[in-house]
Amino acid sequence: MIQALRGMKDILSPENERFVHIVKTASQIARRYGYDYIETPLLEETTLFKRSVGESSDIVGKEMYQFVDKGGHDVCLRPEGTAGIVRAFIQHKLDRKGGVHRFYYHGPMFRYERPQKGRLREFHQFGCESFGEASVYEDFTIILMIKDIFDALGIGYTIAINSLGCPECMPGYRETLVAHLHDIRDGLCDDCRRRIETNPIRVLDCKNESCRKLLQASPVIAENLCEACDSDFLRLQQLLDTHGVAYRLDPKLVRGLDYYTRTAFEFVSDEIGAQSAIAGGGRYNRLVEFLGGKPTPAVGFALGIERIVDLVQLPQKGREGLYLGVMEPQALETILQIAHRKRRCERVHVEYAKRSLKAHLKAADRLGAKLCAVIGEEELNDGLIWIKDLETKEERRIGVEEFG
Ligand code: HAM
Repeated sequence: MIQALRGMKDILSPENERFVHIVKTASQIARRYGYDYIETPLLEETTLFKRSVGESSDIVGKEMYQFVDKGGHDVCLRPEGTAGIVRAFIQHKLDRKGGVHRFYYHGPMFRYERPQKGRLREFHQFGCESFGEASVYEDFTIILMIKDIFDALGIGYTIAINSLGCPECMPGYRETLVAHLHDIRDGLCDDCRRRIETNPIRVLDCKNESCRKLLQASPVIAENLCEACDSDFLRLQQLLDTHGVAYRLDPKLVRGLDYYTRTAFEFVSDEIGAQSAIAGGGRYNRLVEFLGGKPTPAVGFALGIERIVDLVQLPQKGREGLYLGVMEPQALETILQIAHRKRRCERVHVEYAKRSLKAHLKAADRLGAKLCAVIGEEELNDGLIWIKDLETKEERRIGVEEFG
């Protein structure tokens, strides 16, 4: 039997309803915050991800679904959404237009990671990207929007924030950090030692217990920020405080993608095991320019749909729609006409085969229909249809015309 690839999942009942509910709720909220839908291709040039997510990141270094297509192009299934949207933003010259442009998106992302609970090779994100607004109020607003999304979905979380500085303060901090890392080098794991040269900031993010202990005394970014970054970061904290948004300062929050500047944040759930990040994002003021566009400040986030799908509480839904069946094959044409009319405004299931009334009622019940309507011999002769409301248990027989 051919099976889905490892780390890739089919989304069926009962998850499907919750999946759709997440996308619908998040999209509605994003629209209220002024975001418009954007769709970009799943396949992009590999260079796009190398240059944006970063050559030294795990995503680009180890996890890309990369291949050469029939035309000899080096392409890659997108491991995340931001890079493609920045590419589209520049390609469609929105950077030259000026003003603020806000987009939301959802769809599959691909990372060749070691699959485990909450970590898939194909997973789905819902995300937002805001271009053209340099104010830290936008960082605050985006955090508030994610909070609104999780609150609307009934999901618990904690928020961690950090600032990753800017080209003013980052190089100085990097030097201080590298010097410190060289001092503790011998006690660090192989990955960390390699990263001292390639991406020292990511060392702070190591999950290895003995590295974590050693890294406790490392210089932290937040204490090495330039004045502008520092005041922005403080302002963000004030805004969150004023609006009653609880958060935790996490000086080791560095994110796994290289494009961030200043604000970085993560939403974490303690109900889903080791892969506990349910959303992450931050500011990336340099990426548009880095990919060839006009310098444009930007901030965004993405949430992992599979990570929250089991936590979502669906709003209580009663029975829905209409089940139509026949006890006489000659009645099928009438039933099909009713179905077509009714489908303009409600969900309709049609059973084409002749069945007993009991069998129809059972099927209607199983499908969660509110009304079960059946035409038997008697009804056929009299131009009637028999209807049972499966909620109120009320039964009646009315004219087909009257039923609609
Ligand atoms: P990210 O932190 O790599 O950020 O991913 C965002 C979310 O996607 C994670 O918090 C997690 O919930 C989910 N996720 C990531 N990898 C997996 C996986 N293998 N299996 C299941 N879920 C996963 C980004 O992708 C950035 N593009 C976010 C962003 C947008 N930053 C600025 N704008």
